[in-house]
Amino acid sequence: MAPGVHTVAVIGTGKIGELMLSGLLRAGWPVDRLLATTRRTGRAEEIAARYGVRVVDNLTAVAEAEVLAVSVKPQDAGALLDEIGPKVPPEKLVVSLCAGLPTGFFARRLPEGTPVIRVMTNTPALVDEAMTAISAGSHATAAHLALAEEMFKPLGATIRVPESQQDAVTALSGSGPAYFYLLVEAMVDAGILLGLPRQVAHELIVQTAIGSATMLRDSGEHPVKLREAVTSPAGTTISAIRELEKHGVRAALLAALEAARDRAREIAAQSE
Ligand SMILES: NC(=O)c1ccc[n+]([C@@H]2O[C@H](COP(=O)([O-])OP(=O)(O)OC[C@H]3O[C@@H](n4cnc5c(N)ncnc54)[C@H](OP(=O)(O)O)[C@@H]3O)[C@@H](O)[C@H]2O)c1
Repeated sequence: MAPGVHTVAVIGTGKIGELMLSGLLRAGWPVDRLLATTRRTGRAEEIAARYGVRVVDNLTAVAEAEVLAVSVKPQDAGALLDEIGPKVPPEKLVVSLCAGLPTGFFARRLPEGTPVIRVMTNTPALVDEAMTAISAGSHATAAHLALAEEMFKPLGATIRVPESQQDAVTALSGSGPAYFYLLVEAMVDAGILLGLPRQVAHELIVQTAIGSATMLRDSGEHPVKLREAVTSPAGTTISAIRELEKHGVRAALLAALEAARDRAREIAAQSE
């Protein structure tokens, strides 16, 4: 399987499906090798007008595409597979973007032997800075994994993980952008408390976030080392860090990510 040679159908073109579609197009995937499906006619018209891709019904997508990228909400996946499952020829590759759903969920509803790959991407795909974790389910070969990687590389970074780690991935990078946005929102509020205009506080924190993230990625240094470089004896930073520790920010993050992981498991259990 080679990139751009196979037709990919995005099944359920909502927020994440649209990100994938636009990323593939930006990466030069031929528009006539892409299909999209939606539930509502209005949404279909919007997607067709915005990207020039052919929007078809689910069964046409199943018949025509070699790769089915399923990006419906986990709670809609059962009904979708009731509709398309029996009609999927076993040689098609099913790539699930659904949070929490194990590949076994798909395998049980697809013809025996259908290769399934599970991915967890995130919304920075919109700016080609996604983090996408890819896992092989049963019947997925090295070639299938390589194709999935080619599909998601244009959207940012990719990593292969065993499927058993995907609920943790969901908690960390799938939901991760929301944690950073919450932090930024709180820090902008803090800037306002300290008397800065909102726009100034916003600019200061957004650029600080970009700079810090770039240093984390490009220096390869441990975050503790980078933090220590900002933390001088009896200085301002250590006063702030004492407050963060006093208010249990580290413990809150551990508990929050554990809750997200548990919720991913719960969603999977409810979908069975
Ligand atoms: N948003 C994130 O940050 C994020 C991150 C990682 C993974 N994910 C995963 O990505 C998946 C999609 O999430 P999302 O945020 O993109 O949700 P979304 O915006 O609701 O997109 C899902 C789309 O699927 C459509 N749909 C539902 N059933 C369908 C069917 N039978 N046939 C055709 N289309 C159908 C929905 O139509 P309607 O518009 O009519 O509802 C909707 O447009 C989820 O499984 C989620 O777990 C999301």
